[in-house]
Order: sequence, then structure tokens, then C-alpha cells
Amino acid sequence: MCGIVGYLGCRDAYPVLIKGLHRLEYRGYDSAGIALISGDNELNVYKSKGKVADLERFAESKDISGNIGIAHTRWATHGEPNDANAHPHYSQSRSLALIHNGIIENYTSLRAEMESKGFTFRSNTDTEVIVYLVEYIMQTNRVDLCTAVQLALHQVVGAYAIALISKENPDEIIAARKSSPLVVGIGEDEFFLASDATPIVEYTDRVVYLNDEEIAILRRGEALKVLNLNNVEITPEIKKLAVNLSQLEKGGFPHFMLKEIHEQPRTLQNCIRGRINMEGTNVVLSGVIDNREKFLQAKRIIIVACGTSWHAALIGEHLIEDLCRIPVEVEYASEFRYRNPVILPGDIVIAISQSGETADTLAAIELAKSKGAFIYGICNAVGSSIPRATHSGSYIHVGPEIGVASTKAFTGQVTVLSMLALSIARQKDTIDVDTFTRLVKELQDIPNKIAKVLEQAEAIRDLSKTFTYAHNFIYLGRGYNYPAALEGALKLKEISYIHAEGYPAAEMKHGPIALIDAEMPVVAIATTDSIYEKTISNIQEIKARKGKVIAIVSEGDETVHNIADYCIEVPRTAEPLTPIVASIPLQLLAYYIAVNKGRDVDQPRNLAKSVTVE
Ligand code: AGP
Ligand code: GLU
Repeated sequence: MCGIVGYLGCRDAYPVLIKGLHRLEYRGYDSAGIALISGDNELNVYKSKGKVADLERFAESKDISGNIGIAHTRWATHGEPNDANAHPHYSQSRSLALIHNGIIENYTSLRAEMESKGFTFRSNTDTEVIVYLVEYIMQTNRVDLCTAVQLALHQVVGAYAIALISKENPDEIIAARKSSPLVVGIGEDEFFLASDATPIVEYTDRVVYLNDEEIAILRRGEALKVLNLNNVEITPEIKKLAVNLSQLEKGGFPHFMLKEIHEQPRTLQNCIRGRINMEGTNVVLSGVIDNREKFLQAKRIIIVACGTSWHAALIGEHLIEDLCRIPVEVEYASEFRYRNPVILPGDIVIAISQSGETADTLAAIELAKSKGAFIYGICNAVGSSIPRATHSGSYIHVGPEIGVASTKAFTGQVTVLSMLALSIARQKDTIDVDTFTRLVKELQDIPNKIAKVLEQAEAIRDLSKTFTYAHNFIYLGRGYNYPAALEGALKLKEISYIHAEGYPAAEMKHGPIALIDAEMPVVAIATTDSIYEKTISNIQEIKARKGKVIAIVSEGDETVHNIADYCIEVPRTAEPLTPIVASIPLQLLAYYIAVNKGRDVDQPRNLAKSVTVE
């Protein structure tokens, strides 16, 4: 849940590392630090509470020379965010420095053992014990850094991506991973190391994704060497990166989130490209074709996910039950993994994740796998851990999502789920050809419809001003749009810090309606669908209690216009696809309210993009 960067080569390491930290800051950001070995072999560590910019201000007047270094942006799990707890951590003698992403679960006993040997710790983190242990093993066993890391990791229980440098050996970085991601970039006589490829892409497109319990040795003048914890050498598989630099920059937008909202017509084109034929009459999802029999025979589908991906899963439940007539259960991955879930022969587990690194989702996959389920992944980050842990799957292909609040990944996930449901339904013959063709054509037209919604961005910005000072919000929807309401509420609370709840519209009268008064803004999704009339009645119930209603309606709607206080129109589409278009104004509304409040939209407090700890 943090960012790791490393560099070894001929360039000045400091600017490469700082730029890399900026690119990774979205992953976690309560403190940051850097370790460099200078030309005269000093191991300098600079760290500071706050953002990468605070670290830069702090380090600016110091000795930042050297062409080897490691750097870290932290999202604290153990010990408050302060200078002492920030990484890198020195070893006891200060000749080693280490950065770590993850959690060391047995750190209390390891630390007690080290303390009983006379070591004194400088931080409250779970991390520091690793670097102390490595140094202790080097000294007592008289082994080199790599061997000491191997031996230390045998004693460590937990999740880690680590990197170490030693002033005794200024030409080497040792890195290792287990359950936390780590990528090595291979340039001309230089190496890069990072939690994901974003800090590497501007220097090289050749990367190696480390696997669990692998150790990478980056040594000046030598080829990359990968070993496992038992010292068996592994041939690294060099992959070519598909991401380019412009995909990682803001492209003239003030925030990544706004850029990503506006990218959606293009990202969804990319998502459906090659999967819907030119004529718009057929859907081919290769993962479904490759596992045709499994999907046709499936008795039940369980979808596991967290956060926004869990909301996409709820829409998937509607789509698959509605179109394929297969029972679906949607589970929070964090709950699923600690139950003793019943997995029967013929069950398929679908795991949805933007980052492909979410610890709870990965653990849910491992549990389902151990019970014999077939696992299908729906992910965005290519080469991340979840696609590698699943049996098959589909990428959503919406490009890197940097804003912490997920937007384009959500619409990409729902689009892939729509294609998955359509593809299974056609093969199972649970929908007729006409309905299938109509839905495929509608899906093909979704990017244009989103572009039309985006034309209203200015109007939504104006509307947002009316609600900037609200303390609470309620979001309502029914059927396919109930999960869209949950997602709208999550977007608002994540980035504006306004309390917001999503409800199924008809559930209001069973309790939450007591909250409604003239101060309560209620966002109601009331597109023209099979339960339109019912939703209107629910809106009337809110109006009768003086709630302020902002309604998302279909183009040309008149009825709701006469009831609601404000309306935002979205183009008409087939009912199963309405949550995709209806979620766009909700993303914009949350964005503009947060901007009006002066919030840090791309990096909201307490959150991280990639939740690699449980
Ligand atoms: C989305 O806006 C969130 N920040 C968060 O809920 C996110 O969707 C969740 O952490 C799951 O992440 P994943 O899709 O990368 O697995
Ligand atoms: N558990 C470590 C800490 O709290 C690492 C957290 C992270 O991954 O940023 O310092």
C-alpha cells in the first residue's frame, strides 16, 4: 500500500527517484523518504512526514549525489505517520537502508528477540525489524547481503516488497517480494525498480514482474539475476510494456480524476474494441470462449471484490442473472476470505479489481482456488498479481487509472461484465437473437452517449455550487441503478469528505426517510426503465418531506422534471446499460463539489489507490 522506487545506473539517482515517487504517490502518501549512496560512499537517508513535495523541500539543501538509491512513499499500517516511521530505515550500524511495502505479521516477536540481544529500534514500524535482522545475520553468519536477505525472509511472516542498499557494496540493490508487487525495469547499463511500471515507463519498456518469494539482484555491469528464497536461480521473463508516458500525465486537466472522467468515451472504445464485431452483431470475449463449457455448465457464480469494484460486481449480478439465468452472489472479498464459504462443483468465482493488487481480493481468490473453484479475473492493471493468480479472465483495457477515486475503471468493469453476460447468454441461448443484437448495438453506442453526458460538465459544475456546504447526501436508485447510487455516494464521500449514503429507493420508507428534511440533498437515479413509475413514487415521498431532489433522468423526460428540484439528463439506452451512463454525472458532481471545497481530489486523505494490505 505504498510506492517503492529504486535506481542503479549512470544517471543521478535523486531526480529519477523523486519523479518515480510522484508517479506512485497515488498508492499511499503520508510520508516519504529516500536513501542514496554518495560518490564518497556515504549512505544518506532523508525522510519526512507529508507528501513527496515535503521530502523534496527537506532534501534540497542536503547531499543528494549518487547514482544508486531507493525511495518510498508510505501509507502507515504500524506506527503513526511521522519522520521516524517513514522509510527508508537504517540498520543498527547505519550501513544498510531498507524500504518495505506490506505488513510483517510476526514483527512483535522478532523485535522482542532482537531487543533481547541488545538492539535498540528507532521507529514504531513493523518494517524496521527486517533490516536489523538482515544485518544481524550478515554479521553472525558472515554471509553477503543477498544470502542474509534470503535467511531473514525465511523468518518473516507477512506480506512484503522490499529493497535494500548497503554502503559496503554501492553497486547493488537487493529486492524481494511476497504478496506485494515489484517490477524491475531493464535499461542500457541501468536498472529501475518500482511497485508498478509507472515510474519506469519513461526510461525503458523492458520489465520483469517478480513473483512471490523471488529475490532480484541488481548489480552494476551485470545482467539481472533472480533467485528464490532457497537460492535456486530463476530465468527472468522479460516483458514489453504497453503503457506510454502520455497516459500517465494529466494532459491539460487540473486533476487526474477529471482527465479520467473525460477519457471514458475513448477508454470504453478500447474496452470493447476487438470484442464486438464491426457490424455490432456479436460479442467475443476470448476468456469466455476458452472456457465455454465451464460457463455453460456453471451452477452459480460468486463475484468477489472491494469498494468500487464491488459496486460493479452488483451490476454484474443483475446482468448475469437477468441475461444468463445463472444465480449470482456478490461478496466483499474481505468477508468472504474469513468465512468458510461453500464452494460447490460447478461454481465459478469472478474476481474484479482495477489494480489487480488488492490484498483481500487476492486472498479470496486463493481461498476459492483451494476449494477447487475456477477463477476468472476482471482487472485493469496488466501483469498485476490478480491476473496472474486467476485461471482466466478479461482485462478492461482502460489504461492506467491514477486518481484514487475510481471512475473509468468502474465503467470499464461494467462494460466487461455486460460483454461477459451477453456472450454467455448467447451461447446458453437464454436471450433471443433480437434482444442480443439490440443490446450489442446499444453497448457499441455507449461511448458516444457518455460523450453527450460529458457535454454537460459545465452545467453540473454550476449545480455543484448549490450543494458544496451540505453535510449529508443520500443517493437513491433501483434495480440496475441501485449499485450506481452506491457508487455515486462512495465517490462523494471519498473526495469531498461529505457523509453520503446510497439506498435502494424503496427501502427509504423502512427507516432512512426519517433523515429527510429541507437540508437533505437526495440524488435520485430515475431513468426511464421498467421500474420508472415506482422510482417516481419514491421521489414523491422525498419531496413530501421537503428533501432537495437532484434527479438523473432520461433525455426528454417530463414527469420527473415537474417533481425534482434539479434534473440532469442522460441519453436513453437499454436498461442493463443505464448504470454506465447514469454514473457519469455522479462522478462529475462529486468531483466539482470536492473542488469547490478545496479538497485534494486525486489524493484524498487516508486513502490509497492500491490496497495491498488487509
Ligand atoms: C474507489 O474509488 C476506491 N478508492 C476503492 O474503493 C477501490 O475501488 C477498492 O479499493 C478496490 O480496488 P481494486 O479495484 O483495485 O481492487
Ligand atoms: N507496514 C509498513 C509501515 O507501516 C509499510 C507500510 C506501507 O506499505 O507503506 O511502515
